[in-house]
Amino acid sequence: EHTPVFDYVIFGATGDLAMRKLLPALYNQFRVKHVPEGSRIIGTARSDMTCEQYREMARQALDTFLPKGTINPELIDRFLQMINYVTIDGTNPDSNWDALKAILDKYPHRVRVFYFSTAPQIFEAISENLASHHLITPNSRVVLEKPIGTDSASAKKINDGVSRFFGENQIFRIDHYLGKETVQDILAIRFANPFINAVWSGEYIQSIQITAAETVGVEGRADYYDRSGAARDMIQNHLLQILSLCAMDPPKSLTGDAVRDAKVAVLKALQPITEANVGQETVRAQYTAGGIGDHRVPGYIEELGKPSNTETYAAVRAYVNTPRWKGVPFYLRTAKRSKRKDSEVVVTFKPGLKNLFGDQVQSDYMAIRLQPDEGFALTFNIKDPSSPTFTLQHATLEGDFSTIRIPDSYERLMLDAVRGNPGLFIRRDEVEAAWDWIEPTLRAWAANKTKMETYPAGSHGPEAANKLVAQTGDKWHERLDISQG
Ligand code: BG6
Repeated sequence: EHTPVFDYVIFGATGDLAMRKLLPALYNQFRVKHVPEGSRIIGTARSDMTCEQYREMARQALDTFLPKGTINPELIDRFLQMINYVTIDGTNPDSNWDALKAILDKYPHRVRVFYFSTAPQIFEAISENLASHHLITPNSRVVLEKPIGTDSASAKKINDGVSRFFGENQIFRIDHYLGKETVQDILAIRFANPFINAVWSGEYIQSIQITAAETVGVEGRADYYDRSGAARDMIQNHLLQILSLCAMDPPKSLTGDAVRDAKVAVLKALQPITEANVGQETVRAQYTAGGIGDHRVPGYIEELGKPSNTETYAAVRAYVNTPRWKGVPFYLRTAKRSKRKDSEVVVTFKPGLKNLFGDQVQSDYMAIRLQPDEGFALTFNIKDPSSPTFTLQHATLEGDFSTIRIPDSYERLMLDAVRGNPGLFIRRDEVEAAWDWIEPTLRAWAANKTKMETYPAGSHGPEAANKLVAQTGDKWHERLDISQG
């Protein structure tokens, strides 16, 4: 894919995301020669520092966050030469915008990407300042980091604010899960294989579960996280995006807009969860002290140092009101301080002919593994070859991508913004539809309509979540269950 020479301007360039993800992603793309010669990276933030100091900060971040095999000091030196730094307070019209302009105007026709890795409340102000200093050219795009708001109204406000200065075709809203290799695979697996496409509906599928579990706690982000919680942090965006890829009807084509039309149709067809049923359809919980492997960790409240009504675990049963999915539960769950880092989609098929095999016949599964290792697994019932009688057993077909270097999702997405490919970014109507659906749940939770459960750090979550899936005859699939067939 052709990548034009670019200028990448990062707002919030001294922040955690820039250090942990954005600079390592650009370096890795530079390393594999996808960054055209002459491209530039311009960091901006409020901290007063020189370009040399920022480069030193970037070097340390690369040393810390890059996978060991990718560190090449000589290449890092060359990469750092691409980086500039300008001290700017994005909300202040009198800040150092002219210095940024002097750098950018050297190449007025170049693709310019403004990456907003700041608090979303200031997206509009930064856009306004860019506009009033004539920094937004026809070849400019803006990447918006999540969260886009905390509810429908705030999301609309942010979108309206940025839209005053950038056209929708210039706005790239990141959901880094869409850049994950096997999330993109959902399209390939569903639509490139007639034997899967044919059974992809409620006629053959019993349920779909989507899990994103992490062993980490809230790390250094307690302040953000405590105002957010698991549903806002993960379900509104990442998990609903995966759900929409799993549930959408075939898009008319693979262009960005056709796929996004198909996805937004799913989000709009989600059956509302209301105050009346939020107690049955959702589970929320907080972790208490426990252990991740041998490592003892404190509970959420202790970590935070104050009482809190914020969930670190959320599970939701969703229904998609389209003919394809009538009555099929989609289970979404996400957890901090879970037993393992483990994210996957598990599709459970309806069981085979019970009149022939009775209860011996087990439901087949397809698991699409997002991380830590990417791949997939598909089970079948076969006759147990070692048994003299006609006994069934599960055989598993597995695909494992762990020997291939799979670029981090930010690598793909940051360069897609340069290339002007919007397909793996979220359109305005998607963000807003997702908020519209989750907001009543968030409101009901804030009013304690769903009990706050607890789970020990290092467990798979609260018992109430097992009961939630048991109501439809399902159970959560932990990674171990799948690989044991
Ligand atoms: C982010 C959330 O969007 O995704 C974090 O804000 C979470 O809380 C992260 O840790 C998980 O991303 P990944 O790629 O590690 O699964």
